[in-house]
Amino acid sequence: MFNSINSFVTFGIIIFIINYAKSHCVEQSACTCLRDDKRGYDLRPLADQGPFHNKKNNFTFQPCRNVDLTFKNSNDSDCQESSICLLSRSNRSISLGKAEDSIWSSPLNNKNGMHLVFHHENYMTKIKLECCHGCVTTLVDQNSTDTEYNLTLTSESNCLITMRRGLSTGSILVILLLVFTGIYFASGALALRFLRGAVGLELIPNYEFWSDLPGLVRDGVTFTLSGCSPVSYERI
Ligand SMILES: *[C@@H]1O[C@H](CO)[C@@H](O)[C@H](O)[C@H]1NC(C)=O
Ligand SMILES: *[C@@H]1O[C@H](CO)[C@@H](O)[C@H](O)[C@H]1NC(C)=O
Ligand SMILES: *[C@@H]1O[C@H](CO)[C@@H](O)[C@H](O)[C@H]1NC(C)=O
Ligand SMILES: *[C@@H]1O[C@H](CO)[C@@H](O)[C@H](O)[C@H]1NC(C)=O
Repeated sequence: MFNSINSFVTFGIIIFIINYAKSHCVEQSACTCLRDDKRGYDLRPLADQGPFHNKKNNFTFQPCRNVDLTFKNSNDSDCQESSICLLSRSNRSISLGKAEDSIWSSPLNNKNGMHLVFHHENYMTKIKLECCHGCVTTLVDQNSTDTEYNLTLTSESNCLITMRRGLSTGSILVILLLVFTGIYFASGALALRFLRGAVGLELIPNYEFWSDLPGLVRDGVTFTLSGCSPVSYERI
């Protein structure tokens, strides 16, 4: 009895860890993260948009890169190279972080909720990334203290998507095969040309083998199609 409960609990924990690992989004860059199931978040479309302001215009956020975010009516700024900036009550532009300061974080209780967290000096800013379809990107500020700020960025670019990363193993193999085939025929032809003074079809390395190949393939296919029977093979 104890044993079966024990293994049940262990099993449950393993399932939980697997699910968590699957939905855990690993940072690829300040702008992208990738989960085990090849899905992830890609904010790069937002790099060309923005910076985004909240309604009261005391927060501004430029996803993915650092720009001059100094507020117009501020008389002092450290936001010249910044990804997120706050306009203080004394009209100072205060940088809350650079693009490279951000960390991707997914809350345990919400598999599809993502946060970008900026730690900068003694400020911490949490930006909740909310997905919406066919909407305009908006930045909304939530409750905050003097050093901790909560914001929500709602955007089409915050949706979980399938990430295509480079080439699959299959296509790499095909490309390698084509490259080596090319090298084989080219260097073979050069060698035959200069070592044996070959011309025309003689330039093809192992010409006899390659010219026999279509016939061999045809015989092989016929042999297979005729049910591998050597009798019908003989008849051809
Ligand atoms: C932003 O501006 C609003 C309205 O002026 C104010 O209530 C809020 O406290 C400001 N937020 C911060 C972090 O200064
Ligand atoms: C900015 O403005 C505030 C209030 O008007 C003033 O106290 C402060 O000295 C100014 N700072 C600079 C750098 O001009
Ligand atoms: C901040 O700037 C605005 C607009 O320039 C001005 O009206 C306001 O008095 C300034 N506040 C402070 C504290 O300097
Ligand atoms: C910001 O949101 C988190 C939950 O995501 C909460 O625990 C925290 O207290 C909030 N911060 C402030 C300053 O309200």
